[in-house]
Amino acid sequence: MNESITRRHFLQRSSIAAAAAGAYAMSPRAFGQSSEGEDVVRFAAIGCGGRMSRDLQNFIDACALLGLRAEITALADAFPERTAKMADRFGVPAERCFFGFDAYHKALETDAEFVLMATPPNFRPLHLEAALAAGKHVFMEKPVAIDPAGCRKIIELGRIATEKQLGIVAGTQRRHQQDYLENFARIREGAVGEILGGAVYWNGTVPWIYERRPDWTDADYLARNWINFWEMSGDHIVEQHVHNLDVANWFLGRPPVSALGMGGRARRETGNQFDFFSIDLDYGEGVHINSQCRQISGTYKRVGEFFRGTEGEVHGGGRIEGHDVTIPEIEVDSDDSSVQELVDLVRSVRTGHPLNEARQVAESTAVAIMGRISAYSGQIVRWSDMMENPESEIYAMTASPAAEDFETGNVVMPSENVIPIPGDGEPIRRR
Ligand SMILES: NC(=O)c1ccc[n+]([C@@H]2O[C@H](COP(=O)([O-])OP(=O)(O)OC[C@H]3O[C@@H](n4cnc5c(N)ncnc54)[C@H](O)[C@@H]3O)[C@@H](O)[C@H]2O)c1
Repeated sequence: MNESITRRHFLQRSSIAAAAAGAYAMSPRAFGQSSEGEDVVRFAAIGCGGRMSRDLQNFIDACALLGLRAEITALADAFPERTAKMADRFGVPAERCFFGFDAYHKALETDAEFVLMATPPNFRPLHLEAALAAGKHVFMEKPVAIDPAGCRKIIELGRIATEKQLGIVAGTQRRHQQDYLENFARIREGAVGEILGGAVYWNGTVPWIYERRPDWTDADYLARNWINFWEMSGDHIVEQHVHNLDVANWFLGRPPVSALGMGGRARRETGNQFDFFSIDLDYGEGVHINSQCRQISGTYKRVGEFFRGTEGEVHGGGRIEGHDVTIPEIEVDSDDSSVQELVDLVRSVRTGHPLNEARQVAESTAVAIMGRISAYSGQIVRWSDMMENPESEIYAMTASPAAEDFETGNVVMPSENVIPIPGDGEPIRRR
């Protein structure tokens, strides 16, 4: 057990983040000991694109902060050039690299203790299920699903992870970021009174597009240009804005009861997504949060969260005005919350109290999906219908192609540059 993993440190962070509950007995597991007696953490990576290049380094850095040495057992990606590039950068031998839509199975067969996942989000429920079945602790990038069924599956898998004493941390970051943790603690101590409402934003640009090449299959094209197809990404309200919606759920302590929103497509060039949304999220008890997100180049950028309370206001992890309150000192190991979330995962596992963020990230993802369904359909979408009522059409909604179709070769290309029209063809009244 490494000296730097202290009980006090773990307790303090966990209680503030409300990430783990109960009594914490120290029972570090002895695994990962190499023949040289070093404390080694073996891990595998699934999805070796842009974000994984950061997650991999962050995992290595997080382990180093805990006095542990991280060792890569496998790199898996749909495409060989992606694993090759990552292998080159991190010095991973070719025999540990796997490619294809089934490559994750090979990664999970290695003796990795942890698995990092940064594929397009439509694969997350399938890959998480396989990882837990293989007994791995998981770091998974946000968002974690693209349809209501996927969100419910992640919640169920979270329950299974608890049973199996496996850790799950999601890449939503802010719940591991010092300034957000401090503001959360201040809110809990009454600094701003009761939250009455607010607004959350991710207004920016389209991150990237991939032009289709003639030799690509439909599956290849979807897996490469995934960020522009809602069946792969959930749409950008899910893929990107989930960060801010997660803060709303966290600060308010509950998900919304309904979403009523609108959106459209002004300038997107590929795929089938909208490029702007504005959603009224009703959190019950008279509390409304406006969720606004846009991916249009040349428009005003704003990313963040604002909440108005009965006695003050708070801007995400930034300025807070209201009562002076006393909160416990919050220590972090890293100023980079993308590293800290991994420190928290590894520490929680190595102290025998694995964090499990499955439900919270599934719920934040579900809020975003609720907003998308409302904007696409023009209808109000209720949380209870989406998450609890098997009789509801919304409960039953699933995307096609499904994650499994990529493995079985049954991908049917969704229509490109055709977007949902709210109102379901209801005729316009004429005079
Ligand atoms: N936490 C953050 O701040 C943050 C930032 C960026 C991206 N992300 C998230 O990380 C994930 C990946 O995003 P990215 O920007 O790295 O995208 P990317 O396209 O650069 O990387 C995705 C990789 O997954 C591979 N892939 C696709 N399908 C696969 C499959 N079935 N099995 C194995 N590999 C597969 C692709 O070939 C690609 O290399 C997304 O969920 C995204 O939302 C999080």
